Amino acid sequence: MRLNKKTAIITGSSQGIGRGIAERYGSEGANVVVNYIGNMDMANEVCDIVAKNGGRAVAVQGDISKVADIDNLFAAAIEAFGSVDILVNNAGVERHAPFWEVTEKDYEFVMNVNVKGTFFAAQAMAKHLIETKRRGKIINISSVHEDLPFPNFTAYCVSKGGVRMLARNLAVELGQFGINVNNIAPGAIETPINRNLLNNPMKLDYLLGQIPLKRLGQTDDVAGVAVFLASDEADYVTGSTFFVDGGLTWYYEEQ
Ligand SMILES: NC(=O)c1ccc[n+]([C@@H]2O[C@H](COP(=O)([O-])OP(=O)(O)OC[C@H]3O[C@@H](n4cnc5c(N)ncnc54)[C@H](O)[C@@H]3O)[C@@H](O)[C@H]2O)c1
Repeated sequence: MRLNKKTAIITGSSQGIGRGIAERYGSEGANVVVNYIGNMDMANEVCDIVAKNGGRAVAVQGDISKVADIDNLFAAAIEAFGSVDILVNNAGVERHAPFWEVTEKDYEFVMNVNVKGTFFAAQAMAKHLIETKRRGKIINISSVHEDLPFPNFTAYCVSKGGVRMLARNLAVELGQFGINVNNIAPGAIETPINRNLLNNPMKLDYLLGQIPLKRLGQTDDVAGVAVFLASDEADYVTGSTFFVDGGLTWYYEEQ
């Protein structure tokens, strides 16, 4: 078991990619803190699966865009398991609109979860590790859109580009404390965030045509990389982004 008795906080992990990571961390022997914003039943379900897989888990409610909730999340994790070794900044949101119609409210919604939440959760993790003189791992679930333009999702792209620079900066600034910081950039993964796409056969067909591996990603595809980055095997890996996109980012076809 590659994460035996290590404690991981995974933000927004009651469904989707975060849930996939929580369940895999459980099967690698981790203590998992399942953060959720609204759906306690789903979070408890994830905890049950983690326990069945061989790990331990607690569900902690909290809005990651609020620093007070982040502080509470860390306090709850430390109370349950003593300390934290791994933070997975997974919670994320998007809003669809042409650039010229993006409202202040939607811009703030996206930036507050994807950038502010990731920033201050990473800060809470760094403070905890520095104070307790322990090494640790921070993994941000960014997106291929930390690099790749995505018209009609400009705030999302700006936010994930911000997470790209956050990882680069923190890798340099926190390296002295033995804190590794990396991003995972998923492509098109089959989760609720892609509900509209999954319900639109024409859009889906077009997208699949642009993925060299010719399928959508599954949460387990992302979880495998998240286990590696959290494990001792990745002790010398920091400041990088790992694309899990079936080749989507570099797709090119000669006509
Ligand atoms: N699915 C994809 O194709 C894909 C691709 C690239 C990147 N991502 C990224 O992966 C991450 C997970 O997305 P997903 O695909 O599992 O989608 P999802 O919508 O299923 O999951 C997002 C999770 O974040 C939680 N969340 C939202 N706001 C929160 C807040 N303020 N506080 C705490 N939790 C909050 C949601 O409740 C949900 O559980 C996101 O950061 C997303 O941007 C997803």
